[in-house]
Amino acid sequence: MHKIAQDVYWTGYVDWDLRLFHGYATPMGSTYNAFVIKDEKPTIIDTVKYYGYEEMLGRVKDVIDPGEIRYIISNHTEMDHSGTIDSLLKLCPRAEVVCSDKGEENLKRHFKKDWPFKVVKDGETLNIGKRDLVFKYMPMVHWPESMATYSVQDRILFPNDAFGQHIASHQRFADEPGVDTTIREAAKYYANIVLPFGQPVTRVLDAIASLPIDIICPSHGLIWRHPADVQSILEQYRQWSGHQTDNRVLIIYDTMWKSTERMAKHLYQTLDKAGIPVKLAHLENTHISDVITDIMFSKVVCFGTPMLNNRMLPTVAGMLMYMKGLKPKGRKFFTFGSYGWSQQGFNEVEQSLTDAGLLQAGPGHYVKFIPDDKDLEQLDNWVPLIENIFSG
Ligand code: FEO
Repeated sequence: MHKIAQDVYWTGYVDWDLRLFHGYATPMGSTYNAFVIKDEKPTIIDTVKYYGYEEMLGRVKDVIDPGEIRYIISNHTEMDHSGTIDSLLKLCPRAEVVCSDKGEENLKRHFKKDWPFKVVKDGETLNIGKRDLVFKYMPMVHWPESMATYSVQDRILFPNDAFGQHIASHQRFADEPGVDTTIREAAKYYANIVLPFGQPVTRVLDAIASLPIDIICPSHGLIWRHPADVQSILEQYRQWSGHQTDNRVLIIYDTMWKSTERMAKHLYQTLDKAGIPVKLAHLENTHISDVITDIMFSKVVCFGTPMLNNRMLPTVAGMLMYMKGLKPKGRKFFTFGSYGWSQQGFNEVEQSLTDAGLLQAGPGHYVKFIPDDKDLEQLDNWVPLIENIFSG
């Protein structure tokens, strides 16, 4: 039994096998968190992915007879959290499904069932006995219907996807592997899931700023149980949602016959010698979900590709499409690469980066066939430009 606070229990499912979450590489697996609150009107907050039902149910039964459950709170419709509501409801004849107005609409569209819904408004309070639960709408964190549940007496926030991480573990708390480790995974989660929603996240942070929060129980990964750790992850979210970056450069590239790679490595060595923090990401070997995490922290992105059939390489196109969805806006970019007879595809690269919200910092450097020393040295001209960006 995993006790979180007095009469509050974790009843989720650990997904040890998960390695890909719709395009996001999850080498550490994931966890879908559900929580039972034992009170006069026993309540479960969120459920788990469909294949975790038996394991979740076993944990629920360790705490309470499911037939006693009065409320199943659905903070978010996405199926990793709503996937077992229907099965659970069959064992809970007295239960109502508590959700936002859009949540009811979405759940009906997803599951084609007319469950006993209890729609709650933003800021509404639901008394379940010794506790008051307050609902805070969190539109677009992660979906339009998303909301958080706040237990007033426990001072616990259940914010669903927000503040989560894709970690499978026997541990339940963020401080157990070390808060730095958990924050690193929370950053990857933010970069791959939450990054496009900076303004909605800022609004949520403002909305919950007045709440005394001792514990944050996200719907994925580990729980932030110490007030200092709660403040740390809130502060990180403030920085990430504000698109605050570090003075560092990320060079992203792929290559056919090593010409673009020569340019990437020359640029890397030049920046490194100049004392500029710089990292190389070869798209052949680096997963896009790791690249986007590095982009989140980098003030400058240098993007290189050769031309294949007058177009960028497919790996590069995939990365740019991912970026266009996640919109890491405000970063500056330079482009480079090698071509044979047409530079047409470089325009598409520049346009895609602009569409993703980045700002072009200077003209691209494109070299016909194999770069010679003079071609490579032209990349050195970017050093003062980058230093200028950092000081500005
Ligand atoms: Fe973890 Fe948006 O679902």
